[in-house]
Amino acid sequence: MTIVKEEHEGVAAESATPAYRIVGVTKTYQQKGRVVKALTGVTINIAQGDFVTIQGPTGGGKSTFLQILGALDRPTEGEVFLNGADIAKASNTELGRLRADEIGFVFQGFNLIPTLTAAENVDMGLEPLGLAKEERARRVAEALVHVGLEERGDHRPGELSGGQQQRVAIARAIAKQPKVLLADEPTGNLDESMRDEILQVLQSLNGGGLTLIVVTHDSAVARKAKRRLRLEKGTVRDITK
Ligand SMILES: Nc1ncnc2c1ncn2[C@@H]1O[C@H](COP(=O)(O)OP(=O)(O)O)[C@@H](O)[C@H]1O
Ligand SMILES: [Mg+2]
Repeated sequence: MTIVKEEHEGVAAESATPAYRIVGVTKTYQQKGRVVKALTGVTINIAQGDFVTIQGPTGGGKSTFLQILGALDRPTEGEVFLNGADIAKASNTELGRLRADEIGFVFQGFNLIPTLTAAENVDMGLEPLGLAKEERARRVAEALVHVGLEERGDHRPGELSGGQQQRVAIARAIAKQPKVLLADEPTGNLDESMRDEILQVLQSLNGGGLTLIVVTHDSAVARKAKRRLRLEKGTVRDITK
């Protein structure tokens, strides 16, 4: 199935297309014969260029929600539009393409390949895009500059601090020039000073126009957000003050 674009009435509607339009999303899991409702009817828009954090208790549905936004999983019910395209109804091939070139994902555990250098790890994110070799090299160098690691391209993860490793992971996610960057507890394994490094990088990317959605337990991260959400018992609430 191909992705169906929503219909728009001219330019005004087009420019107002949110990064995400999420309508009535539920997600249920089967756990040992029991039905677990991870999301129970989430409806929310996320604007282009926003910096949104999602807080809430363990088991509240945060990771499930982010995986659905990241096309890593499908909702049980409901609609998820990324820039107007319905990703809940997309084919597996289409979802693979979205993950490859429209969505950047950053995880708590960095998920770098230990035997590859920082530059090679960043380059991995570009593999599915079929870019020319020169363009790949240019994007890798540019992404490393964006995270302040232009001098560390030939270092392996084991030779870098946790904060630097997470910055490599961010570089890998942004090298494909995604429309959104999703991060699940990106500072969860880091001390305060490394957290601040990551926050600075995220804020600077958002300043450049990238839409950010960050799941976090850390109120210092949430304080930097433009919009704060809380996800509890499968329900989203806006807690921006
Ligand atoms: N793959 C899965 N299979 C079964 N249950 C799951 C799965 N992933 C999450 N859940 C359940 O869904 C609920 C929400 O989990 P999760 O989205 O991981 O919450 P959070 O990230 O806020 O801690 C929990 O009850 C959890 O046990
Ligand atoms: Mg989680």
